[in-house]
Amino acid sequence: MGDSVRSVLSRSEAGGSVTLEGWLRTARHGKEVSFLALSDGSCFAPIQVVANPELDEFESVVRSLGNGCAVRVEGEVVASPGKGQSLEVHATRVELVGGVEDDYPLQKKRHGFEYLRTIAHLRPRTNTFGAVLRVRNVAARAIHEFFQERGFVWLHSPIVTLSDAEGAGQMFRVTQLPADDPPRTEDGAVDFGQDFFGAEAHLTVSGQLEAEIGALALSKVYTFGPTFRAEDSNTSRHLAEFWMVEPEMAFCDLAGDMDLAEEFLKHTLAAVLEGCADDMEFFEQRVSKGILETLQHVVDSPFERLSYTEAVEILEKSGREFEYPVRWGVDLQSEHERYLTEEHVKRPIVVRDYPREIKAFYMYLNDDEKTVGAMDVLVPKIGEIVGGSQREHRLEVLRTRLADHGLSEEQYWWYLDLRRHGSAPHAGFGLGFERLVQFMTGMANIRDIAPFPRVPGNAEF
Ligand code: 4AD
Ligand code: MG
Repeated sequence: MGDSVRSVLSRSEAGGSVTLEGWLRTARHGKEVSFLALSDGSCFAPIQVVANPELDEFESVVRSLGNGCAVRVEGEVVASPGKGQSLEVHATRVELVGGVEDDYPLQKKRHGFEYLRTIAHLRPRTNTFGAVLRVRNVAARAIHEFFQERGFVWLHSPIVTLSDAEGAGQMFRVTQLPADDPPRTEDGAVDFGQDFFGAEAHLTVSGQLEAEIGALALSKVYTFGPTFRAEDSNTSRHLAEFWMVEPEMAFCDLAGDMDLAEEFLKHTLAAVLEGCADDMEFFEQRVSKGILETLQHVVDSPFERLSYTEAVEILEKSGREFEYPVRWGVDLQSEHERYLTEEHVKRPIVVRDYPREIKAFYMYLNDDEKTVGAMDVLVPKIGEIVGGSQREHRLEVLRTRLADHGLSEEQYWWYLDLRRHGSAPHAGFGLGFERLVQFMTGMANIRDIAPFPRVPGNAEF
């Protein structure tokens, strides 16, 4: 392996020889010399390689290089006279490692994101997607750092599960039974008892219930892994497969949960602003003007906090004609969430204490018996980015809540059992990782945040 472009460009002075391997963003063949913009994805900028006619392979190799070629270059690091970079490489040897065929789709012009989705195997080589992938990486590292520094244990929650963590029935089935002729029980239903796991199994929608097992033993845990939702939502904020971060804390209430969510978001944003400065500058210039200021503002100012009841009052008084009218008891739609965060306060907002009817069975029933200890963090342009709650840790209340939701105690037996033995107040939240990165980069569509987006009708790459 050679030197990375990042390590060379971050040198403080010229001098020394390097070996670089990467792909050509552009190849400009001037009258005298050729300029090769070589990128290896290690940082936003490509490095300029200057190749002159003294090279043995100048005519045979260099002059025929074009966009997309994989090359290996040996050369000297010199001060660059050109604008836009302080160092460049004067080639002493240029080797073509992999050529491109005539129909290479990434020509120099800018391509629409929609088109790039149809060539998702090549789009990481573009400026935008390289930047998205590096931001994802730095954000993921910052997430682990945040929890590790605070003594949280990373719990590896399962992907295949028998329980519906949200009780909302949006799960993908995992089965080995023959699709055309599954075994049936006497009453004609599919007999999942004969299936691989001996029961009906699905891909998880959330690692929360397992995180609760972890928290009620290790006090502070978090999960960070793929989750799946079979909801037929063709929106710019929904994926069928996305990564979720779910901290869970024992001996913690909703206030502690909200504090953690705020601190966590600020930490992660600050880490990306610092660790991906060049990529973030690109998003500012080419994708979303003002994004740097917005993010810095989020890092520097306290989040607004209000109750669902207050939020509904604000929406009712807003004088806005919403597509979905608001009144106490309805779930907030994305248009409501965006009004609150973008227009009412112009920064993130935490809405708490939602009506019990619209929230999941596991949320703590408040003393008013009308609301539950839930909280959502809403941010401009995206709406909900974090959803969390204090959990119902009282056995009898939880049993009532399961019954209210038409869920069977049998299926949740171990979840109930945790309330029978050493139960303690606990709370946590889930952050959609792609929504976070979407917020950070200002990208309009979440399909351009996941490297391999899974959405209704598409899982090609
Ligand atoms: O609000 P949700 O459904 O909450 C839970 O799953 C809880 N069990 C979390 C917890 O308390 N441990 O999902 C959490 C977050 C949302 O706020 C959103 O950011 C993201 O997951 N999310 C999605 N992201 C992309 N595509 C989807 N289809 C998403 N559904 C939820
Ligand atoms: Mg939610």
